[in-house]
Amino acid sequence: MIYISPSILACDFSKIGEEIKKVDAAGADMIHVDVMDGHFVPNITIGPPVIKKIRKATALPFDVHLMISEPLRYTDIFCSSGADSITFHVECGRTKETIEAIKSRGVRTSLCVKPATPVESVFPYLDKLNMVLIMTVEPGFGGQSFMYDMLPKIRSLRQEITKRGLGCDIEVDGGINPTTAALAIEAGANVLVAGSAVFNADDPGKMIKKLKGSI
Ligand code: DX5
Ligand code: ZN
Repeated sequence: MIYISPSILACDFSKIGEEIKKVDAAGADMIHVDVMDGHFVPNITIGPPVIKKIRKATALPFDVHLMISEPLRYTDIFCSSGADSITFHVECGRTKETIEAIKSRGVRTSLCVKPATPVESVFPYLDKLNMVLIMTVEPGFGGQSFMYDMLPKIRSLRQEITKRGLGCDIEVDGGINPTTAALAIEAGANVLVAGSAVFNADDPGKMIKKLKGSI
C-alpha cells in the first residue's frame, strides 16, 4: 500500500484550512506538516499554535516533520498539538531519548536522514521506529529537484527492514512527482511526501492517483 502525504508548505497559507480540506477530499492519506526553526535549516515555518488550529480542518493523520535543532525540548508540545506521527532528524543527537519521549505519548515515531547522512545511522533504532524518512532534497524549501543518488539509500534501508522482519515504513520527501514517485516506490518507499506536485496540480485527486501509480 502506498500512502501520499501532501506537504502544506506548498499550500496557500492565507486559506490553509480550505487547502487541507481540498487535499483531504482529493484522497490524501495524511497531512505533512513541515516545522522549521531557522537554525537546523535556513527557513522558518509554523509551530504548535498553528498546528493546533488547523487540526480541526481534517480527520486525516498529521505527519509532523521537525526540522529543528533540539527536537527533544519540543516533542511534548507537538504531541499535545495534535501530531499523529513525529519525524525528527538523527543529526540532532539524543536520538534514543527523543524516540522514548515520543513513544511514551503514544505518537508514531520516525527518524529522518539528510542527504549527506548515511542511512545506516538509523539502523540501531529501527526496531523502535514506525517510519524512517529519507530526504531526497536538502531540507529547508519546497519545489527543489529530486536527488536521484538517494535511491540506493532507500534500497538498502528496505533490505535491512525486510532482513530483520520489521514493519517500519519508508517515507521520501522532496522533489516527488509521478516520475520520481515511481522510482522511489520501486526502490522500496511506501509513504510519499508531495508538496508542489499536489498543491499546484489542476486536479489534485488525479495527481494523488498518479503518484500512487494507480493511473
Ligand atoms: C523540505 C520539506 C518538504 C517539502 C517538499 O524541507 O521537508 O516536505 O515541502 O516539497 P516538494 O514536494 O515541493 O519538493
Ligand atoms: Zn518535510
